[in-house]
Amino acid sequence: MKVILFGATGMVGQGVLLECLRDNAVTQVLSVGRSASGRHDSKLAEIVRDNFLDYSDIAPQLAGYDACFFCLGVSSIGMDAERYRHLTYDITLAAAATLARLNPQMTFVYVTGAGTDSTEQGRVMWARVKGKTENDLLKLFRAAYMFRPAAIQPLHGVRSKTAWVQAIYVATAPLLSWLARVAPKYVTTTEQMGRAMIKVARDGYPKPVLESEDINSL
Ligand SMILES: NC(=O)c1ccc[n+]([C@@H]2O[C@H](COP(=O)([O-])OP(=O)(O)OC[C@H]3O[C@@H](n4cnc5c(N)ncnc54)[C@H](OP(=O)(O)O)[C@@H]3O)[C@@H](O)[C@H]2O)c1
Repeated sequence: MKVILFGATGMVGQGVLLECLRDNAVTQVLSVGRSASGRHDSKLAEIVRDNFLDYSDIAPQLAGYDACFFCLGVSSIGMDAERYRHLTYDITLAAAATLARLNPQMTFVYVTGAGTDSTEQGRVMWARVKGKTENDLLKLFRAAYMFRPAAIQPLHGVRSKTAWVQAIYVATAPLLSWLARVAPKYVTTTEQMGRAMIKVARDGYPKPVLESEDINSL
């Protein structure tokens, strides 16, 4: 399986990249990001670029892939609606439309979040934007899966680049670890996210939206 990964420098993406490199079913990983992942592996190739809206210059390099794991995303905290929509909807759909055209059989996995609003009509801005993003991705691909984690425990040295987020994860590590065992509805891990993405890309899944509990069951 050949995989394109967006967001490999982020907390979720780092964990997903680790699992892809560990799994023999994944033969190649192409990371597309604003900076290099910092990992070196014979399976890994990287494209570092600034433009996440137009991929015409690198289209030939994006063809021939079986799956895309889209872990690029931002928190809505402190962000106005227009900017959040641009970074969430515009950037995701620009990449997805290009990939769907170049790889019509591809499985697309998108990291969204618990509480996403599929109706696109609710009162919470981020949830509406994620809902529209999910809905339009589901129309683009034959196989698309929306991962809606709640809390995520970083494992295997995965770190958030945002200092305060990392501090919270360090402070709550024992609690998260315990919750991940007793309350899989609310907590998953970066390892489980990566393992589950590989599994759905390989075998499919009975429904397109996976909550934390579904991710943990894979
Ligand atoms: N972390 C959680 O507990 C959690 C829980 C539920 C859902 N999620 C969702 O999971 C997704 C990933 O979250 P995360 O925690 O991994 O975030 P993160 O650590 O902040 O990483 C975000 C990733 O997106 C990239 N990115 C952000 N803005 C970009 C832009 N304008 N252009 C190109 N790349 C950009 C970052 O690249 P740079 O390294 O270049 O900044 C990084 O690779 C988000 O959609 C988030 O809502 C996260």
